[in-house]
Amino acid sequence: MRRLVAETTVHASDLVAPLFVREGIGEPQPIASLPGVVQHTRDSLRAEVADLAGLGIGAVILFGVPAAKDATGSGAFDPAGIAQLAIADVRAEVGDALVVMADLCVDEYTDHGHCGILDGPPGDPATSVDNDATLDVYARIAVAQADAGADVVAPSGMMDGQVAAIRGALDGAGHTSTAILAYSAKYASGQYGPFRDAVDCAIVGGGDRTAYQQDWANTREALVEVRADLEQGADMVMVKPALAYLDVIAAVRAEVDVPLAAYHVSGEYAMLQAAAANGWIDHDVVALEHLTAIRRAGADLVLTYLARWFAETVGRSSR
Ligand code: PBG
Repeated sequence: MRRLVAETTVHASDLVAPLFVREGIGEPQPIASLPGVVQHTRDSLRAEVADLAGLGIGAVILFGVPAAKDATGSGAFDPAGIAQLAIADVRAEVGDALVVMADLCVDEYTDHGHCGILDGPPGDPATSVDNDATLDVYARIAVAQADAGADVVAPSGMMDGQVAAIRGALDGAGHTSTAILAYSAKYASGQYGPFRDAVDCAIVGGGDRTAYQQDWANTREALVEVRADLEQGADMVMVKPALAYLDVIAAVRAEVDVPLAAYHVSGEYAMLQAAAANGWIDHDVVALEHLTAIRRAGADLVLTYLARWFAETVGRSSR
């Protein structure tokens, strides 16, 4: 009867698996702070995505880790850049069996580690991210990712006007059917640390992303960001991270009817793994509790490093 009347379910088809692909490695590389997650080679990525498609996972979101970085993050829009090659590989491997998303940002590709182009020397306190110069780069990345075969591009850099710039560029290049998942309400969280290990990115000279990511004190600001992205043409919006922001997910859910995503981020996954490894909590119970809570708050889709575990251990559905 509990199953019959359950208000919330989790399905493998609701889950989006974040995957890292690194240029120039011969074997998959473990990520110490993300147990069970690796930096893939192009070959191991193909195999992983084929498995995930077979398990019924809804989508993958790809992050490239280039061999060389520069000031503008040009590897992010190079047609021969690692992400573009990986998108094409995955598309060739699985066809339409799952949705192929591409994270759209430059922090993995810049030698200074910021999500945008700088207006001065890295590490100088007077230097800022140049919002509008960054939009031109994001537009080029969007077209490169769509050319490679991405179904969805997901701008994660929190630049103002990024969705409009990307939509315009995609349409101009004939990619009118490429969807945009906007990381709309992305907080300047302390929970992205393991991800930065996964993509080998650290901000040169210290510093943080508070100039473009949100203050965790704010909920209404998230709604402003979501509305702006929808006006600019976002097809889906995201709240990130998830568990400390369930109220924000619920507030966005109450306001919009487009698909709503939540990102259960690297630090959330790492905390779960660490506590479970110590025997302090039961991994499988808490993992399912967390994913269900994110769905209960109102998220339609959940980006999570737990995707494969869920499909293998729980099955295609939590009920
Ligand atoms: C930025 C980006 C980040 C994450 C996804 N996209 C890192 C950041 O903003 O510093 C974090 C994801 C995670 O922690 O799992 N390209």
